[in-house]
Formats: sequence, structure tokens, C-alpha cells
Amino acid sequence: MRPTAFSPENAETKRRRSDWQVIQTLLPFLWPARDVSESGEIRLRVIVAIVCIGLAKWATVITPLYLQLAVDALAPQDAAMIPLFAVLAYGLARFLGLAFAQVRDAVFAKVGVRAVRRSAGAILTHLHTLSLKFHLDRRTGALSRTIERGVVAIESLVSISLFNVVPTILEVILVGVILWNVFSGVFAAITVATVIIYVAFTIITTEWRMRFRRESNALDNKANTRAIDSLLNYETVKTFGNESMETTAYDNVMSQYEKAAVRNQSSLALLNVGQSLIISVGVVVLMVYAAMENIAGRMTVGEFTAVNVFMLQLAQPLNFFGFVYRNIKQSLVDLEKMFELLDVPAEVIDNPDAKPLNVTGGEVRFEGVSFAYDERRPILKNVSFTLAPGQMVALVGATGSGKSTIGRLLFRYYDVSEGRILIDGQDIRDVQQHSVRKAIGIVPQDTVLFNDTIGYNLTYAKLESSQQDIEKAAELAHIDAFIKTLPDGYQTTVGERGLKLSGGEKQRVAIARVILKGSPILLFDEATSALDTHTEKEIQANLREVATGRSTLVIAHRLSTIVDADQILVLDKGGIVERGTYNELMAKGGLFAAAWNKQQRSLAVADEIVKDIFAAASE
Ligand SMILES: Nc1ncnc2c1ncn2[C@@H]1O[C@H](COP(=O)(O)OP(=O)(O)OP(=O)(O)O)[C@@H](O)[C@H]1O
Ligand SMILES: [Mg+2]
Repeated sequence: MRPTAFSPENAETKRRRSDWQVIQTLLPFLWPARDVSESGEIRLRVIVAIVCIGLAKWATVITPLYLQLAVDALAPQDAAMIPLFAVLAYGLARFLGLAFAQVRDAVFAKVGVRAVRRSAGAILTHLHTLSLKFHLDRRTGALSRTIERGVVAIESLVSISLFNVVPTILEVILVGVILWNVFSGVFAAITVATVIIYVAFTIITTEWRMRFRRESNALDNKANTRAIDSLLNYETVKTFGNESMETTAYDNVMSQYEKAAVRNQSSLALLNVGQSLIISVGVVVLMVYAAMENIAGRMTVGEFTAVNVFMLQLAQPLNFFGFVYRNIKQSLVDLEKMFELLDVPAEVIDNPDAKPLNVTGGEVRFEGVSFAYDERRPILKNVSFTLAPGQMVALVGATGSGKSTIGRLLFRYYDVSEGRILIDGQDIRDVQQHSVRKAIGIVPQDTVLFNDTIGYNLTYAKLESSQQDIEKAAELAHIDAFIKTLPDGYQTTVGERGLKLSGGEKQRVAIARVILKGSPILLFDEATSALDTHTEKEIQANLREVATGRSTLVIAHRLSTIVDADQILVLDKGGIVERGTYNELMAKGGLFAAAWNKQQRSLAVADEIVKDIFAAASE
């Protein structure tokens, strides 16, 4: 067997991407390849945004220089002229610093949102190519949270981190260079040293704080799960009168959360205090040195002011650094989890040279098929049979004997471990899966519906069908009368997974869908098991009609529904133990005959008669 698919449990043990690899996976979404639509525009936006980052920082950095000019012009006791140029230039530089930052955001917005759109789209597409096995193993809630977090992570990585970290580094360098050139190396050294100490302190403190944050997040999740679970099980909670137990349990978790959250907040205060202490010390040292230089006559008052403003200006973006650092780390983790999904290999894949299935008559042939979901437990052993074009083959057998599995293999949800499955002589592994699935109409054992209207769920079988087709199919499936009794008719919503419909109603929706789809091969997996015998008989008659001229595989528990099958296969422990027509099998007196006699005699029959009477009476 292939390695097990992604699930939250084994995700932890998987090879981890390094942060750099995560960024590498993200980059093509921000700098799209040439063949991606609008790639030219996106690339241009990236370039303009980067230029804006540079311009904004340049404007910010030169601002103090104009302030210095103005102060120096005013400093002499006899200053008579307003230093208009310096003041205006100072104002303009300040304005440009902000304006370029805004232009950068506006220009880049589309790049960020497009990256989100494309990566989320790529993941959804990929998830649809993954095998049924993956989807049975996953937890939908966790999966959607993973994608949600990943998408948020892209946005925050780009907007907060890229637009904060890169410009700040740029600013530190620019300020350092200016201080060095215009004033002296000592100023540059003091400033850079302060920044380094500041950053180091922030990283260390943030790392230490992260466990409080993790702790409070985990407790928050736990409280949430607890609350939601108790609401989902609303009826169970009421049945056992356990409301107060539920609220107490919730409050217990919340009280732990309270502690962790408070610790998280107080550690933030500590971080902030430490940060401003470092900046203040840096400023004081800088100013003391500048004052000494001023007294020594090597520095003007304006320069003294400018040096101070340089440092204070730098402190502004640095203030967010703790947040930004944590954000980057968190975003990288979230993104990694999301990109991990892209690493899950699709198990059932088309051959590169696969052609569409060419259905001529609709013959289905199983040749020595063996299969196991888990190699430690074989399910099907050497199963061979032929469904001739237009014929009906019935599959019967105990629960768990592998009947539905045969259907899943035919649909190519899984590939067989041994042997092969042929449709009109073509191995289904050699043709496009899409075309195989198109050729087969299935009424599954459990029908699950979209949380939308009945009309939508019916049209889903064939998106281009007309209202007339839909009503015709509904009629054949005996669901039209029911739909007419609904106040909203075809516009009635069916609830999550179709839970607002009864089992029998759902089954009839599924039957109507198969009729609409009109595939040459049909598979009924206990298609009418949820119906009373009366309705069942009528639908059976209609199904027969639909099935004429089509190859039909019927899986049935109620043996009375398959007496006229062209061939009946009796499945036991994964192998076919008997085969033949009803008469042949009855004459043989084997497993089938025994089951038949038992079913005839069983109380279930009496039960069905009762249901029958109800159904007849309700007409
Ligand atoms: N995804 C799966 N992973 C592992 N085992 C599975 C999986 N699906 C089904 N099985 C096992 O395979 C066996 C055959 O299942 P299958 O659904 O084919 O039975 P069935 O004959 O249709 O039974 P029923 O009459 O109850 O519908 C069962 O024992 C079941 O537990
Ligand atoms: Mg089954």
C-alpha cells in the first residue's frame, strides 16, 4: 500500500519544510510566471511597490535634515528671516514619507489578494484530485482551518512583515550612512548598536512570550471545541439533563484560559517597557555625546536636534517589531501547514497518454480483482464476473462482504491491488478517470446532499438540464408529489448534508439525479432500501424502465427486488461463492436459497406488510 494520506495526526511526523522553503513556495504566487494571466501587471505592481518603499524611506530619512536647517537658521539670536525653504521642504518630506507608503499599499493590494486567490484555488483544485481515502481520513473542520489560517498568513506575511521589516532595515542602513557621512561614525555606531540590542531583546523576549500565547491559544481552541460539541449534541445534553455539567466543564477550561491570557498580557507589558528603556538609553547616550560635540563647537543646535529625531523616528517602526517577529513566525508555520496539503500525492492518477473511455455497449468485466483498503485486511479476493451490455447483474451478500467496495472500484475511487476492471474492453486505469465516472450513474447507499435547494441538488447531475427534464426525472423517481407538498417547492433548502429530508426522500433525489445524468452504465447500491415496500415496488418498476438497454449492477439486501436479474452473484468474505439466475440458485439450495427462505419467513416481511398498509392508506 502507499503511505497513508495527510491527516492532522501524521502531519506532525512529516518532513517539515524549512522557513526558506515555505517562502520559496510562496514566491511564485507573488511573482507569477509569464504564462499566468495578468502576470505582467502583477510584476509591474511589485516593482512599483518596491520603488515606493525606497522613496518613502528616503523621504522619511531626509526629513530631520530639513529640520536641522530650520533650527540652525533660527538659532542665532539675531535671526530675522523665516527659513521658508527649510520649513516647506521639511513639511513636504514628511508628507512624501507617508504618501509613498500609502501608494505602495494601494499598488500592492492586488498582488497580495491575487496571491491569496491563486494559492487557495490551487489548494482546492489539488484537494479535489486527492483520493477518496484522503478525504475519509481527513477532518473537514481542521482542513478548512488550515486553509483559512494559511490564507491569512499570506496576507499578513506580505503586508505586515514585508512592508515593515524590509523598509525598517532599509531605514536603519540609510540613517547609519547619513549619520556616518554628515556627522560622525560615533553617532552611526551608537544608533546601530541601539537597534541591534533592541532587536535582540525583542526576539529573545518574544520567543519566551510565545509559549504563553501558544498556551492561551490551545486553551481557547479547547474551550471552543467543548462549547461547539455541547451545542452539536444539544439533544443528547437535554436527554441526560447534563446542561450544568457542560457549562461547568466549559468554565473550567475558560478559567485556565483566563490565567494564560493574563500572563500573555503582562509579558507584553514587560516587552514594551524593556523596549522603550533601550531606546531611551540610546537617545540619552546619543544626546549626551551630541551635547558634548556642541559645546566643543563641532556641532550646531540644528544638528543636535536632527540626531535626536533620527533616533526617535527609527523607534517608531521598531515598536512593532515584537509583533512583527511573532507574526512572521506564526505565518510561516501556518503557511507551511497549508503548503503541506499540496505535498499530499494524488493516488489515483491518469496516465499521461490516457484517452477518454469509449463506451460502445457498456460491458463491464471484473477479471481476478483483489483489493484491500489496508493491506493487513484483504476485502476482495479474486473476484471475476461479466456484466453484459444491457443486462442486469445483482450482487448480494452479508453486510461488510465488499459489495459497495466493488462499486467504488468500478468508479475508480481506488485502484485494484490485483487483476483488472474493463469497460468495453478498456482497462479503466488506462483511460481518463473523468470519462469513466461520466459513464456510470450511481445511486449510493447513503446519499449526501449539498446544503442548497432541492432544485440545485437535482440539477447537479447535469448542469445544463431544463426545468422540464428535472420535473420528468422527479416524476420517475416518485419525488414530484412530495416536492409539490413543500411550500417552497423546488426552492426548498435541504439542510446540512441534506439532513432536513428523510432517508427515503434523499434516496429518491439520488434516483432522480441518476435518471437525469443518463449514463450508459448504472449502479444501484441499495437504491431503494430506505423506502417502504409499496413505494419501492413502484420505483423499482421505474428503475427497470430507466435501466432498459443499459448495463446495470444492483446491490440489494432485499432479495425480492432482484429475482429477475440476469445473473445473481453471491458474495461471501470477499469472494463470489455462488452465481446464476434466481431459479438456478434456488435449485442449487445453497447460501442464496437459505437466505431467501429465511427472508421470506422473517418478521421483517410482516413488518413490511404493515408499512405497506400505511403507504396504501396514505394515498
Ligand atoms: N475506507 C475504508 N477503509 C477501510 N476499510 C473499509 C473502508 N470502507 C469499507 N471498509 C471495510 O470493507 C469491508 C467491505 O465494505 P463494503 O462497504 O464494501 O461492504 P458492503 O458489502 O457494501 O456492506 P453493506 O451491506 O453493509 O453495505 C467492510 O468490512 C468495511 O469495514
Ligand atoms: Mg454497502
